[in-house]
Amino acid sequence: MRVGVLTGGGDCPGLNAVIRAVVRRTVAKYGGEVVGFRFGWAGVVDRNTVPLGIDEVSGILPRGGTILGTSRTNPYKVPDGPQKIHEAFREEGLDGLVAVGGDDTLGVAYKLFQEGLPVVGVPKTIDNDISGTDFTFGFDTAVAIATEAIDRLHTTAESHNRVVVLEVMGRHTGWIAVKAGIAGGADLILIPEIDFTLDEVADIIRRRHARGKNFSIVVVAEGARFPADEADSGGGLVVQQSSTDAFGHVRLGGIGNKLAQEMEKRTGFETRVTVLGYTQRGGTPTAFDRVLGTRFGVLAADLVQWKQFGKMASVHGDKVLPIEMSHAIETVKRVDTELYEVARTFFG
Ligand code: F6P
Repeated sequence: MRVGVLTGGGDCPGLNAVIRAVVRRTVAKYGGEVVGFRFGWAGVVDRNTVPLGIDEVSGILPRGGTILGTSRTNPYKVPDGPQKIHEAFREEGLDGLVAVGGDDTLGVAYKLFQEGLPVVGVPKTIDNDISGTDFTFGFDTAVAIATEAIDRLHTTAESHNRVVVLEVMGRHTGWIAVKAGIAGGADLILIPEIDFTLDEVADIIRRRHARGKNFSIVVVAEGARFPADEADSGGGLVVQQSSTDAFGHVRLGGIGNKLAQEMEKRTGFETRVTVLGYTQRGGTPTAFDRVLGTRFGVLAADLVQWKQFGKMASVHGDKVLPIEMSHAIETVKRVDTELYEVARTFFG
């Protein structure tokens, strides 16, 4: 059996665990071989390949990023892209392709499967917003990094009597903000799922300071919507760049700064901002993400061997199971109301 593997979309800790597991399972258990495609779907279109044997994946388990490289290339936007992918499957003699990615990469994988190609999926994103699976690998690492940042911000905020706004990633959902915010004891958490007003935010900060605390930590997800009616500079998504990528996404960023300015103006408390950015995605994965990535990779290799195409790996409780890939692209998995209510208990 000859298996292809690619990693697409934003990188995340645990991708190398998946690649290693696909290779080890395919070679050792099934006597097959693996070819890696470089830089996501671009590598299939351009036939940018690398042979992956046991030696090539040795030592990569604890490494962040992806040894294959990644990109946000959408082959359906590339001239003759899908046709070139069909040719690549034929000419490379692939029995199956493991596509490791978020909703965009898996959306392409599913379309190709519907066109008759033997594709399976592995869901990945630090945002943890893919439906049909309790967790995606990379999320646990991102939460650990954001939690450590909140701990560090606490001591400096307290020393200076400041409000500190921490902006974390989360394009459509606030999973990182909520989990890290609860773990780090944030005084307010703002996420895309829940609308807020600037008056509410200012009141929560004032309430906390009124009970004798003279510092606050506010965590905001980059995709939270700035209130429309109250901001001088308009509301909605705060973007760094409004042009879109090949999957139609704008580049988010800046809500932390806008919020900090407004809060300083309204409350009179000195306010600073920290944007965590790509540190959340870089570096070594946690043990949880290594294990989850490994389990997903082993299952993906099995799915190719069993010819269970159109499926993707998922985790439910402690069980790793195949589900229909269509689940990943149907809806975004939003933060549970119950989880946000737990966080809200500690606001102010
Ligand atoms: O897809 C995950 C994510 O980390 C989002 O939270 C963020 O908006 C996006 O990637 C940024 O990715 P890039 O700048 O690499 O396109």
